Amino acid sequence: MSNVHLINHPLVQHKLTLMRRKDASTNTFRTLLTELSSLMAYEVLRDMPLQDIEVETPLETMTGKVIDGKKLVFVSILRAGNGILEGMLSVVPGARVGHVGLYRDPQTLEPVEYYFKMPQEMQERDIVIVDPMLATGNSAIAAVTRLKQLKPRSIKFVCLLTCPEGVAALQKAHPDVAIYTAAIDRQLNEHGYILPGLGDAGDRIFGTK
Ligand code: URA
Repeated sequence: MSNVHLINHPLVQHKLTLMRRKDASTNTFRTLLTELSSLMAYEVLRDMPLQDIEVETPLETMTGKVIDGKKLVFVSILRAGNGILEGMLSVVPGARVGHVGLYRDPQTLEPVEYYFKMPQEMQERDIVIVDPMLATGNSAIAAVTRLKQLKPRSIKFVCLLTCPEGVAALQKAHPDVAIYTAAIDRQLNEHGYILPGLGDAGDRIFGTK
C-alpha cells in the first residue's frame, strides 16, 4: 500500500494492545491514547520543515534549527479526534487546532458537515488530520475534500487503527494524502466497526457507554 505508514515501534504497539482490552478503564484508555499520540507524532512530523536561527551558547554563536509550530494545524474530526490532540500538542505546543464535525445522514448515509472551524491563512499551513479510527473512510474523505478547498500546503491523516477497506477508500479518493496508523486490522463488520479493533473510540475516550 503506497503512502501508508505503519508505525510499528514497540512502545506504540504495546500501548495499542493495552487500549484494545475491553476491561481498560476510561482513564486508562485516555491516558494510553495521549501517550501513544505523542509517540506517533515523532513519526508523523519527521519531515517537518526547519528554519535556521542564530543561537548563543555559553561559548559562541551558532546557527541552530527550529520548527515553526504555528504553520502546523492539527485538525480533529469530532468527537473522537479530540482524544489525540493532547498528545500531539504536548510535542508541538505552538501548533494551531481546527475542528470538523460530521454526522451521517440516516437517509443517504452520506457525511453532513455540522461544524467547521479553522485558523486563518490555511494556504500557508501543513494539516495533520486526527481521528482514532479510519473505518469506512467516509468522514476522512469528506474532511479531506473540505480542507482541500482551503488550499493548504499539505495534508496528512493520522489514526490509531484502520482496516483494508478504510485505507483503500481514502487512498482512492485522495491518493496524495499520506496515512499514518499504528495498525491495519482484519476487516470492517456490517455496522462499520473495525475487527478486532477496540470498539467505539469516542465512547471509550469519553466514558459515554
Ligand atoms: N469508529 C469507532 O469508534 N470504532 C470502529 O471500530 C469504527 C469506527
